[in-house]
Amino acid sequence: MIIKPRVRGSLALNCHPMGCKKIVEDQIKIAKDSKQYKGPKKVLILGASSGYGLATRISLAFGGSKSDTIGVSFEKEGTEKKVGSAGWYNNIWFKEAAEKEGLIAKNFIGDAFSHEMRKEVLEYIKDEFGGKIDLLVYSVASGVRQDPDTGIVHRSCIKPINEEFGGYTLNIQKEEIEYMSVESATEEEIANTVKVMGGEDWSHWVKTLVDEDVCNEGFKSVAYSYIGGDITRAVYRDGTIGQAKEHLEQTAVELNTLVSEKLGGEVYTSVNRAITTKASAFIPCFSIYASVLFKVMAEQGKEEPCMEHTHRLLADMIYGDSPNFDAQGRMRPDSWELTDEIQEKSVNIYNDITEENFKELCDFKLYKKYFMNLNGFEADGVDYDSDVDLEWLSTLRP
Ligand code: NAI
Ligand code: NA
Repeated sequence: MIIKPRVRGSLALNCHPMGCKKIVEDQIKIAKDSKQYKGPKKVLILGASSGYGLATRISLAFGGSKSDTIGVSFEKEGTEKKVGSAGWYNNIWFKEAAEKEGLIAKNFIGDAFSHEMRKEVLEYIKDEFGGKIDLLVYSVASGVRQDPDTGIVHRSCIKPINEEFGGYTLNIQKEEIEYMSVESATEEEIANTVKVMGGEDWSHWVKTLVDEDVCNEGFKSVAYSYIGGDITRAVYRDGTIGQAKEHLEQTAVELNTLVSEKLGGEVYTSVNRAITTKASAFIPCFSIYASVLFKVMAEQGKEEPCMEHTHRLLADMIYGDSPNFDAQGRMRPDSWELTDEIQEKSVNIYNDITEENFKELCDFKLYKKYFMNLNGFEADGVDYDSDVDLEWLSTLRP
């Protein structure tokens, strides 16, 4: 089968399995060629198949730490007839590369929010993973979560609170920008978004792992958060998702008390920079902001893609000697994004953007390349005219 990209609006409808392989290999090479650090031996990553979770896993396995990893993700299986999701193949290629270096790379595909998944992972840690872990990274991004106790399905939304929001959003398919206005969220929508993207599920995981005594002394857990600047403030940090992130950050403070008392370890959030991922492509105006940011950061020689950013977070901060915590105890690798200079320049460009000039004012090309790369397209050195052997691919297991 010859696979060409299919995109609807800002939603990718397919992926290129061999392109995904090349992208994973390229990221592994970045981790290997970067500063090497000594880190945790045994790691669990929730949301490990793409974006920040995958970059974290690659850095930990190939960036000096040589970590054995368990990855949990929710992905669509590839069959003999149908291409699976990008994350499905990313899991396969990561595992193949890690095992080649003698590392354990175990994948669980399913719902991280469920008690069943916690049970399965726990049993695996106890029976086959050496009994204890050193680090839990929480990088799940989802629009829906079933509460494992009540069975109620909650849906998150990305809306402003007590105000309306309007702004441009990229349409990757049409290579156009579209004006979107979003109404203020209801109380129920806020509560549901906190349920899905707040800290409740992370807390279930950490408490279960501590109660079941599968964490080593000095155990750490980190979850990823976002703040951003004025351009996205109304729809992001002051909006429904911002409420969820605040909940996540408060949960870190609670969990930190537990983990520091019991294990002499630490729990915190890391506020990461804006990048192109499957999750962030849906946030109104975020894609335009990110495209402006890429351009402004590049002009300052500070443009740092997902893999490099994540590696710096681990090598210099979490397992390095310049941790950079803020007054609320959050790790701040996003400080590069949030300097006054970068933000002022971004706002000035953003305010001048029109449907006609956006391709010149922001780095749409780079945004699109990152977006296509997420699904294995536009990778350097991949022959997209050659046949992809789905039958063979379907025999590979994550
Ligand atoms: P992503 O969409 O690339 O990755 C999400 C991961 O969660 C995937 O591995 C997916 O399989 C997994 N997942 C989704 N639902 C699941 C479920 N029910 N059970 C198990 N796994 C599930 O997203 P991204 O952007 O890497 O987001 C990860 C975290 O980083 C989020 O908390 C996000 O808010 C945060 N973040 C993202 C930024 C960005 O610009 N993309 C900036 C700063 C923080
Ligand atoms: Na992730």
